[in-house]
Amino acid sequence: MPSLEQIKSGLMAARKIDFDPLEEARRRLIVALDVPTTAAAEVLVHQLGGCCRGFKIGFELFVAAGPSVLEPILQRGFSVFLDLKLHDIPNTVAGAVRSATALGAHMITLHAAGGPAMLAAAQDAVEGIPHSPQLLAVTVLTSMDAPQLHAVGIARQPADQVELLARMALDAGLRGFVCSPREVARVRALAGPEAVLAVPGIRPAGADTADQKRVATPAEALRRGASYLVVGRPITQASQPAAAAEAILKEMSEALGG
Ligand code: C5P
Repeated sequence: MPSLEQIKSGLMAARKIDFDPLEEARRRLIVALDVPTTAAAEVLVHQLGGCCRGFKIGFELFVAAGPSVLEPILQRGFSVFLDLKLHDIPNTVAGAVRSATALGAHMITLHAAGGPAMLAAAQDAVEGIPHSPQLLAVTVLTSMDAPQLHAVGIARQPADQVELLARMALDAGLRGFVCSPREVARVRALAGPEAVLAVPGIRPAGADTADQKRVATPAEALRRGASYLVVGRPITQASQPAAAAEAILKEMSEALGG
């Protein structure tokens, strides 16, 4: 009979054989559909369907197209990350989380700055629901640097503010976070290996950072502990979005051990 150690090492060897870094990279890439119409979103979903398993719908698309925009994406078997960054009184946010859950969203964002009561109410709203969505507490927007934070009355450095908010969200019962690639390692250390860290502010080497301030490359973000990379313009505004996505996937799969 094999010993426990032999069983364990056999399982690990089997996992290594099964592990496909490119497929794992596709699973961890979420493309942000920051476009103004359902038609434009559908073009991107068609072009990029082979490159990722999930798409992010944010304000631009959701406000223009309405909740029905989720349907065709879900029907094609993709996960939907509904990035509405909820921030309101606890009762209102809990209601919005229930509504977003009913739409079939797999991930839903809310601002950690809404405070512990708001976060706990949101978490309560999804507790016990079968296939409940992953709530993600947005810490400090990746577009904010120290001067931007100071302008809204926060004297801390962005990384310290991220840590404060992540700790608070964790205490309120959340296990999902959005932070920039610069703070991933700190949030991972705080929240543990099971926490879900969705990381925007991803820029391949040499790419235009645009309004993003706290950025890093896909490989850096993964090595620091990101669960998912959220990528918008470097893919969606490229002259060939699928080729841009493939280049990012290649970098991701190399970082994942491919
Ligand atoms: O185009 P780009 O790759 O900069 O897009 C990043 C996406 O991630 C955008 O849709 C933006 O709304 C979102 N996001 C972010 N920073 C956060 C949370 C979400 O950039 N903290």
